[in-house]
Amino acid sequence: MTGTLVVEETDDRVVVTLRRPEARNAINAAMVRELHEVCAAVEQQPRLLLITGAGGTFAAGADIGELRERGRDQALQGINSRLFDRIARLPLPTVAAVDGYALGGGAELTYACDIRLASPAAVFGNPEPGLGILAAAGATWRLRDLVGASVAKQVLLAGRRLDAEEAHRLGLVAEVAPADELLKRAHALLDRMARSGPLALRLTKLVTDAPGGHPLTDDLAQAILFESDDKRTRMDTFLSGGRQ
Ligand code: COA
Repeated sequence: MTGTLVVEETDDRVVVTLRRPEARNAINAAMVRELHEVCAAVEQQPRLLLITGAGGTFAAGADIGELRERGRDQALQGINSRLFDRIARLPLPTVAAVDGYALGGGAELTYACDIRLASPAAVFGNPEPGLGILAAAGATWRLRDLVGASVAKQVLLAGRRLDAEEAHRLGLVAEVAPADELLKRAHALLDRMARSGPLALRLTKLVTDAPGGHPLTDDLAQAILFESDDKRTRMDTFLSGGRQ
């Protein structure tokens, strides 16, 4: 337990629970700092990352009390956008398990993760223009990539909130599970990914997120994997009748 997070680490995964019950887990400077510490640990020892929120809320955005006091220079520091970029670039897959509100920066944090799961109570939205600001930590481009420009503009410009069922239908969310099973399902997803070759997962994520250069980047990544002992062992296992 740090100030704003509960962090549980095992050999193959780190589970982070956002926990600021007095502010619906709103992302303040302390949480940003603590999430950077988690990133540093995951970069140092690559593991899967699961992010969730305590108390039936994922996160109700950036902390509005802090946002109110920030000026141009803080905006240019990209306090949330740099953190979410760092999370998006973590070496191994990241999963957000969303129960309740994921609004503003909370939604953007989930957009920066590779896969999202939701409880039926999940709500995604970007109400920033209502506060006189822009969703500047990834929503304008990540959400568009995830659900297309038409729906992204409805969320960003018209305040549309996506409930779990809509988010699932749009592909934003991989699966909807009852709140009391959400973490179990998220861990089952992580278990599945943990059975894959870690270098293969890492390079697949890198190439999928690469801005361009296909198929060269794909070929280079495959060239590395084709030489790995892990690949030979896994294929030998398959060919001898074993299954992953
Ligand atoms: N920043 C700071 N504090 C926040 C917050 C945020 N983003 N979101 C909620 N809180 C605080 C509230 O001020 C309230 O504090 P108080 O008990 O001292 O009055 C507490 O968390 C509970 O929030 P409340 O609004 O009473 O809960 P609710 O269940 O009725 O509504 C939300 C939940 C998420 C719908 C509502 O809190 C909300 O709209 N939050 C702001 C969402 C937003 O605009 N985010 C974008 C920020 S860029």
